[in-house]
Amino acid sequence: MLCPEANWVTEPSKHEDQLKYFGVQCIMAHRCKTHQILTIIFDTRQEDSEVAKTNAIAEDLFRRTAAYAPDMNFDGADQPSAEKPWAKWLEAELGFRNHWYPTEASRNIPDNGHKMIKLLGEDILFLRRAGQLYAIEDRCCHRGTRFSIRPLCYTDDTITCWHHAFTFNLDDGRIRTLLNDQGSSLIGRKGIKSYPVREEKGIIFTFVGDIEPPPLEADVPVGFFDEDVAVCVADPYVVHSNWRLGSEGGYDPGHHFIHNWSKYSINARIAMTFGWTSTRDTLLKTCLYETGGNGPSGFTRIASETSMSVAATIPGRNGGPAKEVVLPIAGGQTAEEIEMFGKMDFATKVGAWLPCALTVDPWPFPGVIHNEYYVPRDANSHYYFQCGWTKVDNEETANEWINGQLGQVRWKVPVQEDFTVQDAEAREGIEKFYAEEDGWKQEQIAAFDIELLMWRVFAGDNCRGVQKESHTKGMFKR
Ligand code: FES
Ligand SMILES: [Fe+2]
Repeated sequence: MLCPEANWVTEPSKHEDQLKYFGVQCIMAHRCKTHQILTIIFDTRQEDSEVAKTNAIAEDLFRRTAAYAPDMNFDGADQPSAEKPWAKWLEAELGFRNHWYPTEASRNIPDNGHKMIKLLGEDILFLRRAGQLYAIEDRCCHRGTRFSIRPLCYTDDTITCWHHAFTFNLDDGRIRTLLNDQGSSLIGRKGIKSYPVREEKGIIFTFVGDIEPPPLEADVPVGFFDEDVAVCVADPYVVHSNWRLGSEGGYDPGHHFIHNWSKYSINARIAMTFGWTSTRDTLLKTCLYETGGNGPSGFTRIASETSMSVAATIPGRNGGPAKEVVLPIAGGQTAEEIEMFGKMDFATKVGAWLPCALTVDPWPFPGVIHNEYYVPRDANSHYYFQCGWTKVDNEETANEWINGQLGQVRWKVPVQEDFTVQDAEAREGIEKFYAEEDGWKQEQIAAFDIELLMWRVFAGDNCRGVQKESHTKGMFKR
């Protein structure tokens, strides 16, 4: 979107080198002389450009949500209805069932170790015995004792309840024996739930659901499994907000504003803008939605043709003088400096993926991909699970990235320990509104929020099920 006052200068793009990396070509840049808004026009007609593909899903989502966002003025929009098209999103307080979730860094459950982790409201005990990882329901089927209080493994493939000595297989959860009634007819017939687990690149993934698990690849962003991708995994931590506020917040075009308070942006002198806005046209060109295939369902957005402003005006009352507001980081910098520091934003691809993942490519440096998950814990909290990817061509560099200083200084310290702290804070800042004050009904959506509405609808259309409170009480198939 160009400056509405049309007070811009057009200049040839200076971003060729960087943009080639992303497979898009920048053809022209417009700079607003009054507001310092820089708009870059991309050539999306190249055959190999992802956004040049037909984007029927985005068109459909736009049509279904436009009437709920102000100022969209789209003739073809569906009429608003009493039941919002994102009803399933509203139901999914505890997460989407029948998906894989990253759960813990593998290193945090060493051999002979254990940890109880609550996922989607279900208490799950993870144990590693003789090198094998197991995940079982943390609830004895006899009378509900929590195994995690005193995990008792007499053998490497069983757990014995410390209360009345029911003994279960760790792999399939069936009763192996009762230590005090070895002829019990319950043996082999009854049991507890065992959860499918898979470990990849230092991450434990758990399948929470009732169906035959689909391949893990269907729930993890494309690229994760590439052989040359090394993954630096941070310890997940609990954020006290519902997981959906994380899932919406990661790509929220308006939330860019919060990062002006990130030490990383301040130290790097990156002016983080007052927020991004898009129109229907730019959205359809830059947001590519995908379903199924070899990867998960979700979308990728290239920040091209998005307005990012670093200066704005607060009009005076009744014709009084207007106040020019300039972001503190932008103050004192030349336009060239702002452009230089900001140009990574323009080419950054942001992807949101089911069930709860986000990718930012690249971030914070070229060649580094930030990947994070908002894993539902219970209705009011989620695990913030973050990892940084990079491509490596030998084992030494891989090790330096995963366990050494490289991953620390180029991803973990600037991002997980700093930049995304603002995101977690922002989620906690809106939790009360959504949890206790009927925020899902009371929220006053602005035009730029249409991307949130589109994601809510898409996620509801493509999830494999919704987690119910009954599941958290153990009412599921065993
Ligand atoms: S509660 Fe576990 S054996 Fe009784
Ligand atoms: Fe953010």
